[in-house]
Amino acid sequence: MAPMEGITTATYRRIYKKHFSGVDVFFTPFLVANQTHKFKHREKNEFQPFDEDLVPQLLTNSVEDFIWGAKELKSAGYNEINFNLGCPASTVVTKKKGAGMLSDTDRLIRFFDEIFDVKEKENLPDISVKTRIGMTDISETEDLAEIYPKYPFSEVIIHPRLRSDFYEGQPRMEQFDLLYSAIRNGAASKRTRIIYNGDIYDVNDYQRIMECYPDIDGIMMGRGLIIDPLLTEKIRGIENGRVKERIYAFINELYDAYSEILSGERDVLFKMKDIAMYMTLNLPENAKVRKVIKKARNREEYMLWPEEL
Ligand SMILES: Cc1cc2nc3c(=O)[nH]c(=O)nc-3n(C[C@H](O)[C@H](O)[C@H](O)COP(=O)(O)O)c2cc1C
Repeated sequence: MAPMEGITTATYRRIYKKHFSGVDVFFTPFLVANQTHKFKHREKNEFQPFDEDLVPQLLTNSVEDFIWGAKELKSAGYNEINFNLGCPASTVVTKKKGAGMLSDTDRLIRFFDEIFDVKEKENLPDISVKTRIGMTDISETEDLAEIYPKYPFSEVIIHPRLRSDFYEGQPRMEQFDLLYSAIRNGAASKRTRIIYNGDIYDVNDYQRIMECYPDIDGIMMGRGLIIDPLLTEKIRGIENGRVKERIYAFINELYDAYSEILSGERDVLFKMKDIAMYMTLNLPENAKVRKVIKKARNREEYMLWPEEL
């Protein structure tokens, strides 16, 4: 399951796991490592208590802060951490974080050199990355294809879009291919797991990637899995009857869980509406249902939408 800030929170993941199966690994939404050397309360709840199916994700552009974050996560029990090189948000990119780090390759190389140097000496957790294929131009992928294979990342998750694509257009499979081959054949990256991420909405999308890349180590799914929480079960061929009841029970329990941690129905509704907007995206003639969701003022009104599934 892909990290999605505001959506795949610790609460969402916990309730998801109770109701559905088929996901091997979960990621926290990005945790900011900055010079305060403190995670926010909300961020701590994302990775504590320790969860063996979870990989925490760091967002930073400072070696020192990365190392601080890596050590914090190690002392919380994690043997692997993920580094965010994909976030396209302007507030992040202008600070040269997330996808914003991809444009300055000299700096990126220095960053990787330094963190792997410290990792050797100080026994940091394994390091994986989640990356886009560049900032604004597909020619940038060629540079990245020279950089990633030089480091012993435990895993490279590739979302084959440029930062300037945001989430628009088709995934750029030629660039994925370039990075895939480079990492597979790289001197330092032979054991690096390679994961594809982007636009997997049904079993066919999944199978297409698996057919093109039979040796791939995994597929990460974000929006597709939020829209259809049963997608992993479908991919694994697990029989799934009672879809409507299961979704209803999931949403109902998620509502309870958010009611416990958020103050006030307004905040709970806001969160739950966000999720419902994904989950109703592919319903035929969904305009009416989505209108009902938007207008809902309380739980009773909100809980009408799963009935429409
Ligand atoms: C609302 C939203 C929040 C996201 N938050 C994160 C995040 O915190 N960390 C991250 O690496 N990617 C984040 N992403 C990107 C997703 O993990 C994923 O790479 C992207 O949605 C493409 O995969 P998909 O087509 O399967 O959704 C976010 C995406 C969305 C739409």
